[in-house]
Amino acid sequence: MGYILKRFLLVLGCFVLALGHSIREKRQISKFVPKDPYHPQPALNEAGEVLVENRWQHVDAEEENAAFWNSLAQDRLREQVFRRPNLNVAKNVIFFLGDGMSIPTYAASRAYMGQQQKLRGEESQLAFDKFPHTGLSKTYCVDRQVADSACSATAYLCGVKANYGTIGVTAKVRYNQCGIQADPANQVDSLAAWAQKAGKSTGIVTTARVTHASPSGAYAHVANREYECDADVRTYGHNPAICQDIASQLVNNRTGTEFKVILGGGRTKFLPNSMQDEQGNAGEREDGVNLIDEWKRKHSNGVYVYNRKGLLQTDYDRTQYLLGLFDPSHLQYNLDKTAQTDQPSLAEMTEAAIKMLQKDRNGYFVFIEGGRIDHAHHETKARKALDETVEFSKAIDRAIQLTNREDTLIIVTSDHAHCMSLAGYSFRGTDILGVNSEISPIDGLPYATLTYANGPGYRAEQNGRLDLRRQDMTNKDYEYPSLAPLPAETHGGDDVGIFALGPQAHLVSGVMEQNVIPHIVAYAACIGDGFTICKKN
Ligand SMILES: *[C@@H]1O[C@H](CO)[C@@H](O)[C@H](O)[C@H]1NC(C)=O
Ligand SMILES: [Zn+2]
Repeated sequence: MGYILKRFLLVLGCFVLALGHSIREKRQISKFVPKDPYHPQPALNEAGEVLVENRWQHVDAEEENAAFWNSLAQDRLREQVFRRPNLNVAKNVIFFLGDGMSIPTYAASRAYMGQQQKLRGEESQLAFDKFPHTGLSKTYCVDRQVADSACSATAYLCGVKANYGTIGVTAKVRYNQCGIQADPANQVDSLAAWAQKAGKSTGIVTTARVTHASPSGAYAHVANREYECDADVRTYGHNPAICQDIASQLVNNRTGTEFKVILGGGRTKFLPNSMQDEQGNAGEREDGVNLIDEWKRKHSNGVYVYNRKGLLQTDYDRTQYLLGLFDPSHLQYNLDKTAQTDQPSLAEMTEAAIKMLQKDRNGYFVFIEGGRIDHAHHETKARKALDETVEFSKAIDRAIQLTNREDTLIIVTSDHAHCMSLAGYSFRGTDILGVNSEISPIDGLPYATLTYANGPGYRAEQNGRLDLRRQDMTNKDYEYPSLAPLPAETHGGDDVGIFALGPQAHLVSGVMEQNVIPHIVAYAACIGDGFTICKKN
């Protein structure tokens, strides 16, 4: 009896299994099995229709027409064919630097910007996407494959490649070898210094500390980017009397003292440790010097502001020099700002700088940095990196509105890439900051569209991969998945873009060493140390 029942159950079990198996088989051996193992194709049913529900909701009706694409392409072609090179001399130069703004960063930021406006996003354009001329910049430095913001600032501002971590000095100066940084033979001057020699007004603007690596490239000469104040020089075992710090160089030395505009963060690098700034943060200097007072003393008709309100109240006609330090350190991320945050946006600082500088009939040079794109990437906080890139783009839009492309050259570039990638075959308009439309057939889990090769977003998992559907990727501080664990994500060694608009912009083309950029700018503006051939018109 028991034996017969067991036999029966076994046969029944086999039958059910076989049935299930044959259903599965049938689904798999539909006649439309994709043959290419590298490029997954949408799954099809027996009738050859795409299985995924709502698959076509992402397609816009007008994009189904050839006429739509042909007319857009023809418009662009006409622009290219009829464009005449702008052969004017650049009276003014605005140099925009997106720190760490890699090519995937702006590809993703475009989508983010469009999606904020309820568009699908991929077709949106950042301010510099519309520039007529572009090239690629090779960013390696003299001693390293992948650049930091110091050696690269020396390249794109001073025209010479340098060692990792060093600013405004030749590669003869090794990292932290500060005894020889003050020797003029080892120093290289920046576009800002060249512009000053040619009688132009100059300035620097950044969302980072004004003593941070990128803006320092415009005025400082240091063997170590971290010598931001005298106390920092001491932490590296050096005497600040021999190895002058960056804040002191900004206030006391040749190029820095002549800046008409200095806007950014980093107050505590300028104040003695016996003092507090306007918000109660202790100064960092050990030499007892108040460099903000020193700056005021040197510029009797200068104005110092420390918040947004102060900046917006500036009387540009009456102010000859403007120093704005809006944070004890870097300015806050745009996404972290609240109603209480009294800090200007990069676009507001850009407008203030242009209004200050355009009073000069000889023209101007200004360096404007979106400094925190880089920091957000280091934290693998992709949402903030994209948001800072959009803020950077808004500042460029503002500059375009306030200037004339007949006499103002605008350059937009980056110092180095990052190791974020944009992956998968998501449907059009898929949240760029979310998971991909398709699930991995190997572990049955989704994956993020934006991921990093390394960084703090690494998560050790015991049982396979983390299920991202249980994560809040909409949080502005969400750390995107990273392959290798590192306390900070690293820069990338890929080329970065160079975008140019205005006089001589057509000279930006092809793949160039990063240090060629300031030579092109100097030629366009007819400034520079004699190695630039140009003809004033
Ligand atoms: C700054 O200027 C002073 C005075 O001219 C000079 O002694 C010093 O070497 C300069 N600093 C650097 C880093 O060049
Ligand atoms: Zn960085």
